[in-house]
Amino acid sequence: MAGSGNPYVAYSIVEDRQATDMTKTLQEVRRSLPASWYYDPDQYRLELEQIWYRDWICVGHVDSLNQTGDYFTATIGDQSIIVTRATNGEVRAWYNTCPHRGTRLCTNTDGRFRNGRIICPYHTWTFSVDGELLATPGRIETPDFDAAGYSLYGIHTDTWRGFVFVNLSDTPAGNLADFLGDETDLIANWPLEDLRPVHQEVHTINCNWKVYWENFSECYHCPRIHPELCKIMPAYAKAVFDDADLPDWQPRFDGDKGYGRVADDATTWTMDGKTPLPLLEGPTDEERDGGLMFMEVPASFYIVAHPDYVRSVRIVPKGPESIDLVVEWLLPAIAGDTDSDTIERIRALPMLVIEQDGAACELNQQGLRTRPFDRGTLVPQEYVLWQFHEWLRGRLDKTEPGA
Ligand code: FES
Ligand SMILES: [Fe+2]
Repeated sequence: MAGSGNPYVAYSIVEDRQATDMTKTLQEVRRSLPASWYYDPDQYRLELEQIWYRDWICVGHVDSLNQTGDYFTATIGDQSIIVTRATNGEVRAWYNTCPHRGTRLCTNTDGRFRNGRIICPYHTWTFSVDGELLATPGRIETPDFDAAGYSLYGIHTDTWRGFVFVNLSDTPAGNLADFLGDETDLIANWPLEDLRPVHQEVHTINCNWKVYWENFSECYHCPRIHPELCKIMPAYAKAVFDDADLPDWQPRFDGDKGYGRVADDATTWTMDGKTPLPLLEGPTDEERDGGLMFMEVPASFYIVAHPDYVRSVRIVPKGPESIDLVVEWLLPAIAGDTDSDTIERIRALPMLVIEQDGAACELNQQGLRTRPFDRGTLVPQEYVLWQFHEWLRGRLDKTEPGA
């Protein structure tokens, strides 16, 4: 496993990329995970308990929480949560459940709690956005009732450069910064604090969440599945993510790490590789020339930083064989409203790629129950899948059948 030394932290792409030996590809074929792990409800439940309910999970962006009482709801596994701006300006999160008899408090995706009050739709118990029980209209008083014992159920919450993360563990193993680790270095030069989401798409894929990450973790499929993207990304056309994965790779400049980069006549991920936008302030010339940088935070989140815009993707598992992807495009806040033609130009290629990947993931999922298929095989350029599997194995309190 390429981990960063802290077993709590997800596998570290940055450490992998900083390795002096640039040969990362596997030297032999390896076995993938048991096929049943991609559809078995008990396995799904185990992964929720031991990963999704223990790790820091990205649930949204602070841009939707401008004022006290602004909120959005989010789902992690079968847990619904409310994220809100509290009276002291902090971002706080609560389970979306009334302590009276367990009723769902809020059914909207976002909005503003009027007068900063969260009111249960069943018996109108009323809470502040700081979680305190303020009123219990119509309740017949008894001496034993203490409102202090009925606050909303709180959730550990933190933000990183505008992105909101929560941790459903009562006692998280580390703070958010520890969890993110060195991975944040990869896009440290991008001005994330100055950006805001200007466009969002939610895309459902009928596959296990691990199938999606596996697809994300290799470009072996790229020549077949992504012909349009391969015109922008020459390494992808050769079925690898990074130029350094090719046996004949030579550095192009001093310090070249061999990351996958856009073609010489391209700037960013658009259909023609050209950008309709000014370039962002912050990235170095080399970072701009590369055309993209990934930051990956399994299991819930990744960012793709381009010279002209940033795209974030949240993975939301909805069941053993279904996920939602929440894709957002971020641009400088001072740019004002972005016209629809510009949005279309920066959304078209990434959405096409997501749809292509989604279709491949669904086909992958559909074949996994086949009786003689007990597990797959990883070939050399699928080394990030191996790292992902090793990370997963290290996180689960479970013996792997046949291992
Ligand atoms: S369940 Fe919420 S007030 Fe009764
Ligand atoms: Fe893909």
